Amino acid sequence: MINSPRIGIFPENDPERTVTVRNHKVAGNPKKLAGERAAELAGDGMTVGLGTGSTAFYAIQKLGERVREGLLIRGVPTSEQSRIQAESEGIPLIDFAQTTRIDLTIDGADEIDPAFILIKGGGGALFREKLVATASLREIIVADESKLKDRLGGFPLPVEVVPFGWQYVRLKLEALGCRARLRRRENRPFVTDNGNHILDCAFGVIEDPAELERRIAAICGVVESGLFIGLAHRIVIGKADGTLEERVNPRLR
Ligand code: 5RP
Repeated sequence: MINSPRIGIFPENDPERTVTVRNHKVAGNPKKLAGERAAELAGDGMTVGLGTGSTAFYAIQKLGERVREGLLIRGVPTSEQSRIQAESEGIPLIDFAQTTRIDLTIDGADEIDPAFILIKGGGGALFREKLVATASLREIIVADESKLKDRLGGFPLPVEVVPFGWQYVRLKLEALGCRARLRRRENRPFVTDNGNHILDCAFGVIEDPAELERRIAAICGVVESGLFIGLAHRIVIGKADGTLEERVNPRLR
């Protein structure tokens, strides 16, 4: 059980816009700590975007617990994996097509830079995650400390591409300065929930994420890149010592 103070968790008037909360009960599992904390932000009547990955897993688990205790929410899964988990937790779900507004989305990230720019897509769900994030009033990113980076690019940037002619798209991506590899699972090309492939693009340090995102988006055959710019409102970082750090994006308040 989480045992941290509720007051002042997101101090809107804190000049640093960051706060550390002590929590001794779940030390040892930073992802669980972050996911469960974020799940506390859901309230009655909300439509909640359900992210994908091992950190979002704990948020969904906690939301399920809260639903069984009476919380009234509707979930919008960002992947089949999240849909299956949410259904098994008994969280009422709606299809993204049934709503134009999501109150809160909780999702993970592969890298987070100081400007709240993210690399996502390690789990292959980046397109739905980005669409749901775009429709969300608040996007809360949950992660452990290992995801915080001074600069993005250590994690190869996932780019979802249509299967037809992916080899040509790879050449165009590599012309932007990366080594692009087709993601594979069990000796076959990985197939996303949308029936597409993923090219993992090792750019090294990404100097200008916005420019790179523009250039990638301009390539015919690209569905979406895993660069998330201007979408993360808050990040919740679970730490190995059992503390939480929460940061509010000053540009999206
Ligand atoms: C899936 C994602 C995940 O959120 C990201 O890979 C982080 O996953 P995890 O919480 O397991 O480290 O973008 O497409």
